[in-house]
Amino acid sequence: MTRGRKRGTGVPPVNLALPLPTDHGRDARATRPCHTMRALYDDIAPRYDAAMKPLERWFLSKWRAKALAHLPPHSRVLEVGAGTGLNFQFYPPGAYGVASELSREMLRLANLKNKPARLSLVQNDAESMPFADASFEAAVATLVFCSIPSPAKAFAELRRVIAPGGTVVFLEHVRPRGPLGPIFDALNFVTVRLCGDHCNRRTADGAREAGMKIEIIEQRFLGIFNLIVCKV
Ligand SMILES: C[S@@+](CC[C@H](N)C(=O)[O-])C[C@H]1O[C@@H](n2cnc3c(N)ncnc32)[C@H](O)[C@@H]1O
Repeated sequence: MTRGRKRGTGVPPVNLALPLPTDHGRDARATRPCHTMRALYDDIAPRYDAAMKPLERWFLSKWRAKALAHLPPHSRVLEVGAGTGLNFQFYPPGAYGVASELSREMLRLANLKNKPARLSLVQNDAESMPFADASFEAAVATLVFCSIPSPAKAFAELRRVIAPGGTVVFLEHVRPRGPLGPIFDALNFVTVRLCGDHCNRRTADGAREAGMKIEIIEQRFLGIFNLIVCKV
């Protein structure tokens, strides 16, 4: 893994009007380029929080809290695909940094939420981040890697912008092991076409292949839902 490709850009301040990221193309497994994902989530944004409410009540809020508890207090954090900011209430004390997101509409709604005082909102594509190497001490992504067109690029970018020794936390639905795996492969054809969601992603493997060290994998719902904690 090569580090040190981008230098000196630092971390941008709050900026809801950055130039939109370009479409960086697709890898063999991707089916929706980033500009269509952006349009999709711009469209979903006004209904997102209401749609998530039953899941939040059932289990998701608890798992968000559990996931963000792995971020070290007072650390400089990058959130990837922050959406409407449903994680903001769970940031550890003194955390600061950047909540990044592809969709301007999701970001606009996130900006209305209570958030940590020194958390900037930045619009960017996770596959090509506008941050210098080792800009952050920790990162979190919840329910994001299922929709990124080229997860390998996003994992590589994460590894680049998180300082060595830093923590990366994922809360994702993934391809379960065992006989359910092939069923999710078949379902994936439908979910991608329906809502750009890849339900058969192997997120822990992707992080490992990018050079991260997996420290914890906690599973729920027959292994479909994973909390993954890694070190860079
Ligand atoms: C299912 S939502 C999850 C939002 C939030 N993380 C949460 O837990 O509620 C997926 C989010 O990932 C964002 N996203 C998708 N592709 C992205 C990319 N290439 N770069 C950055 N964000 C992306 C979407 O815009 C959307 O807000």
